[in-house]
Amino acid sequence: MSTATPVQGLAILGSTGSIGGSTLDVVARHPDRFRVVALTAHDKWQRLLEQCLAFRPDYAVLVEPAAAARLREALAGTGIRVLEGSAALLEVAALPEAPLVMAAIVGAAGLGSTLAAVRAGKRVLLANKESLVMAGPLVLDEVARSGALLLPVDSEHNAIFQCLPPTVSGQVAPGVRRVLLTASGGPFLRRSAAQMADVTPDEACAHPRWVMGRKISVDSATLMNKGLELIEAQLLFGLTTGQVEVVVHPESIVHSLVEYVDGSVLAQLGNPDMRVPIAHALAWPSRIESGVESLDLVRRGSLGFEAPDLERFPCLGLALRAAAAGGSAPAVLNAANEVAVDAFLGGRLNFTGIARVIEDVLDRQPVVAVRALDDVLEADREARALARSALRGVTG
Ligand SMILES: NC(=O)c1ccc[n+]([C@@H]2O[C@H](COP(=O)([O-])OP(=O)(O)OC[C@H]3O[C@@H](n4cnc5c(N)ncnc54)[C@H](OP(=O)(O)O)[C@@H]3O)[C@@H](O)[C@H]2O)c1
Repeated sequence: MSTATPVQGLAILGSTGSIGGSTLDVVARHPDRFRVVALTAHDKWQRLLEQCLAFRPDYAVLVEPAAAARLREALAGTGIRVLEGSAALLEVAALPEAPLVMAAIVGAAGLGSTLAAVRAGKRVLLANKESLVMAGPLVLDEVARSGALLLPVDSEHNAIFQCLPPTVSGQVAPGVRRVLLTASGGPFLRRSAAQMADVTPDEACAHPRWVMGRKISVDSATLMNKGLELIEAQLLFGLTTGQVEVVVHPESIVHSLVEYVDGSVLAQLGNPDMRVPIAHALAWPSRIESGVESLDLVRRGSLGFEAPDLERFPCLGLALRAAAAGGSAPAVLNAANEVAVDAFLGGRLNFTGIARVIEDVLDRQPVVAVRALDDVLEADREARALARSALRGVTG
């Protein structure tokens, strides 16, 4: 009798991004385990074309119709079906032939397809933290209803997952006192608030440890990324805000820690390379090669830990405020942040203005209960409108 692991179909949502590329890198090392069924992107059709030719998926999706037309022409005769529009993302997220779905679209744009994969009962490898921040309780209800499995890809949450006994998403593991969420501190860890005022988008995206997409790179520089992750950790592991503590760890070797009531602290360590958590989530509960070199602790030398500075990094405090308020507040925080970061990347707002825009929106938009997806989408729409009007008043 053969004991070989059956080949599993995989859909990668956001395949042209940083996480998407790292996922394909791991998958290429294991052609006997994974078959790429669908790849998706927004409009980078040439990058998607290269990926289609290398991995031969059944489906390729581009949200932008004009880009889809170019890709369709380039793939004529290959048998790869090219779909277009946001609805096609939901379609490929739910394909029965792809029981594994990597949710790696950036921002609120990933919510619909993440939900579609969850509703279809998939094993969802969750990189798109924004969907959980926006609609966490609704996503977790759908997980419970469909029997889907959420496997965290964010390195910190993947580390926590590895340090916890197996539990269902959103449920508290017995004996956990708290979780220590590590943060690199980003490229401006040692800069004063005044020095941060005129940093450029390229400086903000030059992360000292991780190579990532531009939106998450800016979030890492403001520490909003850690705030979003704090909300994500609460939801995934059923923790209170007080049970999640952020610790700055500039070397990014310890990816997070779990403290138990007996004082034991378990940590997961590894080189800062997203292929580690991606390989873990792809193969769980097995282990597969990720292509990442062994951790050399002697060469790394000492590891440092310090408290985050909420004065210089107000975005983390704003996320704590939204986490404590609950209801629509995390969705509002996320939407305002997306508008502000986009304005910063587009040269329309300076770096320290990001927090000001978000604070303004949180001050102005009342918190409401979230009972259905429409409540989330309405809060998101209103927050984006408020953020755009705040942008006009904030020059930096
Ligand atoms: N990068 C990391 O190391 C890292 C670590 C932990 C968590 N994450 C999370 O993983 C997610 C992806 O991050 P990333 O750094 O890989 O982002 P990225 O490099 O910017 O890639 C984003 C992907 O999403 C697609 N996309 C963008 N807008 C879209 C839209 N409106 N509709 C459909 N697809 C769209 C992009 O397509 P185009 O290429 O065509 O624009 C691309 O494939 C984020 O939620 C991030 O927080 C990332």
